[in-house]
Amino acid sequence: MDVKNRTIFENDNLHVLRGLDTDSIDLIYLDPPFNSNRTFEASVGTEAAGASFKDFWTLEDLDNTSHGELAESEPELYHAISAAEFSHGKSMKAYLIMMSIRMLELFRILKPTGTLYLHCDDNASHYLKIMMDSVFGKDNFRNEIIWQRAITTKGNLKKGLARDADIIFRYSKSDTYVWNVEAVTIPYDMANLGEKTKRQYYCVEPETGRRFSHTSITAQTHDPDSHLTYEVMGVIRTWRWAEARMRREIAAGRIVQTRPGNVPRYKRYLDEQKGKRLNNIWVDIPNLTARSKERIGYPTQKPLALLERIIGASSTPGDIVLDPFCGCATTCVAAERLQRQWIGIDLSPKSFELVKSRLEQRRIIKQIIHRTDSPKLDKQNQTYKHTLFGIQEGKCNGCQTLVPFRNMTIDCVVAKSKEGTDAPDNLQLLCSACSSMKGNRTQEQLIQTLKDEGSSNEEVYEV
Ligand SMILES: C[S@@+](CC[C@H](N)C(=O)[O-])C[C@H]1O[C@@H](n2cnc3c(N)ncnc32)[C@H](O)[C@@H]1O
Repeated sequence: MDVKNRTIFENDNLHVLRGLDTDSIDLIYLDPPFNSNRTFEASVGTEAAGASFKDFWTLEDLDNTSHGELAESEPELYHAISAAEFSHGKSMKAYLIMMSIRMLELFRILKPTGTLYLHCDDNASHYLKIMMDSVFGKDNFRNEIIWQRAITTKGNLKKGLARDADIIFRYSKSDTYVWNVEAVTIPYDMANLGEKTKRQYYCVEPETGRRFSHTSITAQTHDPDSHLTYEVMGVIRTWRWAEARMRREIAAGRIVQTRPGNVPRYKRYLDEQKGKRLNNIWVDIPNLTARSKERIGYPTQKPLALLERIIGASSTPGDIVLDPFCGCATTCVAAERLQRQWIGIDLSPKSFELVKSRLEQRRIIKQIIHRTDSPKLDKQNQTYKHTLFGIQEGKCNGCQTLVPFRNMTIDCVVAKSKEGTDAPDNLQLLCSACSSMKGNRTQEQLIQTLKDEGSSNEEVYEV
């Protein structure tokens, strides 16, 4: 691949992604704008000051050509996005087209064993999941992680519940993927244990201060003739172990009797337990606050601990991690700390500057590559039909009906027989019915005929 480890691209990620090799990336994390209808700006006086990005979307923001390409290559997904437009408006359609064309590229460049994490929130998560199921296949959905980023303590909560969580979708490209269970196992923490568990782990060994619980060492069945039936600390039982093993455990101080006469039990030290496996609700990684040491003021900067968990769980040292919306490059810093290779992409010129200074501050000074170009494109199959489809927002220019890309025909507004040309400003897309209705006639005549027939502006869409 024409891209080296530790590269930051300052560019629109679509251009860069289109030039990356198929099946080349092990792990992708993306934290794109969430369609929150606002502009984010870095705090004044912080290292990131000057950085900003917008998070409101209109169809004018889109590249019309890729709009058409999506409709051609993924008609079902385009259909679902059109449904989102009906219930949520044009802004959602624009946002989902922007996300879908990038997600198709991300899927292509992910290795067959790779994993992708999409960070979003309830502004668009319900539509994004439909998009992900369509691009990755519903069977490759692995988790919807709820990350509790804050606990709201102020603000007007009289009318509802605080929205304190983000959503992170995990999808794999196939059913063979990297999963490191240790990265999602956290040590037991007395402060977070429930009352019942606390009572269970209440015992403290006076000599060492270590906490322990005790578990039974008696056998399920009682067999007086068994060699497992013998006396321990004045109690005769059928035990789980033979006598020699029992004597060793007693000598090691691992057998306790809570009161004289009670059945002896085995000590299990808390610090020897493997820890607790996380589920899909993550409440143990707080978001950055104004006082957090790692905060550099970049809008929506994510905590390193979150990225380290994700990278640790779904990649191995040496793997290539990509963040196509890398912001202040939190993913790149986390990947560097975990000995992974990384590539970051962001429109903001601040990303390169910030990742460089973040790595320097941590004394991980490495050569970072800053590119403003895009890797070489293998194929270019966009046509003017794709662009026209985007310009017309997927609707026939006659009856104004949403029509699948393949059923659209390029028409010369002024027919060639009447000296019309092939120049872009004389071209339009019509559905097959309108195209044959128009023939060599003028556009005005077509519209009049449609009006006379009462068939303009029908909202019919069939894939
Ligand atoms: C939510 S922020 C990412 C924050 C990041 N996770 C961090 O911890 O700093 C989204 C980023 O996407 C970038 N962005 C938006 N559209 C983009 C595009 N088409 N190509 C590349 N970057 C884009 C913005 O500049 C912004 O930095």
